[in-house]
Amino acid sequence: MPDDMLLKWRPEFPILQKCTYLISNSLGAMPQAAYTALKEYADAWSSRGVEAWSDSWWEMPVRMGDLVAPIIGANPGEVSFHPNVTIAEAIVLSCFDFRGPRRKIVLTDMDFPSVTYLCHAQKSEGAEICIVRSEDGIGVDLSRLLDAIDERTLLVPVSHVLFRTACVMDAEAIVRRAREAGAYVVLDVYQSAGAVPVNVKEWGVDFAIGGCLKWLCGGPGAAFLYVRPELRATLCPRLTGWMAHRDPFAFQIGDMQFRDDAFRFLNGTPQIPCLYGARPGLEIVGKIGVEAIREKSRRQVARLIELARGEGFTVNVPEEAERRGGTVAVNTPHAYEISRELVRRQYLVDFRPGAGIRISPHFYTADEELEAVVQEIRRIIDTRAF
Ligand SMILES: Cc1ncc(COP(=O)(O)O)c(C=O)c1O
Repeated sequence: MPDDMLLKWRPEFPILQKCTYLISNSLGAMPQAAYTALKEYADAWSSRGVEAWSDSWWEMPVRMGDLVAPIIGANPGEVSFHPNVTIAEAIVLSCFDFRGPRRKIVLTDMDFPSVTYLCHAQKSEGAEICIVRSEDGIGVDLSRLLDAIDERTLLVPVSHVLFRTACVMDAEAIVRRAREAGAYVVLDVYQSAGAVPVNVKEWGVDFAIGGCLKWLCGGPGAAFLYVRPELRATLCPRLTGWMAHRDPFAFQIGDMQFRDDAFRFLNGTPQIPCLYGARPGLEIVGKIGVEAIREKSRRQVARLIELARGEGFTVNVPEEAERRGGTVAVNTPHAYEISRELVRRQYLVDFRPGAGIRISPHFYTADEELEAVVQEIRRIIDTRAF
């Protein structure tokens, strides 16, 4: 897709008029249409009151999943919404018993800490944790990860794109090995969905977890969970609630009677306003298509690396272009202080220890913004303005 077609979306994102927005790996820019969507929520609440539940609210955590499904290669009805990735991951963990001989959870030290804390917390339930460490601080060696998955492994909750360095992991190979060993993969697609193509069906992913906050421009409170439909009936989450019940309005006391569809993974009252807020971003990414976003991202990521290296900065990214996601981590002495000064000057970026200043162009980023941010880093260093 030609760049001018993508740049036509810029007026739809008010913040792009005010600053150089290069932080979609953390919080995607808010679409103008989110105002309308959130007003729709307020109007429904105000004018329909409790009837809004039967109009659409009750079904929304799964209906909204139908907007995520094409972005991750799932089918309608297979994705449910949750307040955050950690909760979605906890729902998956609660489907498993760690007291049997198969009790190992294989993680990497490049996965998002919140998810790893949750996995470590399963040790009191009998889980054994195996951590595969990165050797270069950029990626995780695939063969060492695959070797760690054995017949004692129950779960492999790993990231598709690593949050620190945006290194793309070979999800298909991980799923293949896990399947061979009889383990399940919980793929964290938070840093890929909307930026890098994901195909849960083609890869045979068991569980995929992500959110709309970042590359899907959907704001906080809108995370999602895909469960391979063939697995669904075999899973009974202990983290459950009335929305997963076959007959919630019978208000029966006693054992859970699970629904057979994606509602099975819900629990209590959903975060309705967040679901309204997430819709416009999902619709925009759906219209553009992840392939077109990825094509532009590949080009802009390569350009950023070239610009940063041209200034003599260290760039913590994989050497192979195919293994790079949407973010470039630029490291310099005093990188944290420089990142704060960049933000003060309205170049919105962030910083991660061990990686550097994270710069993330998205489909709405103009090429000149890449040049401008690298020049600004140079200016800050040269004038010692940090
Ligand atoms: C790969 C990845 N997983 C998980 C999270 C956080 O998930 P949550 O705060 O929704 O639990 C992040 C957040 O920044 C992330 O980059």
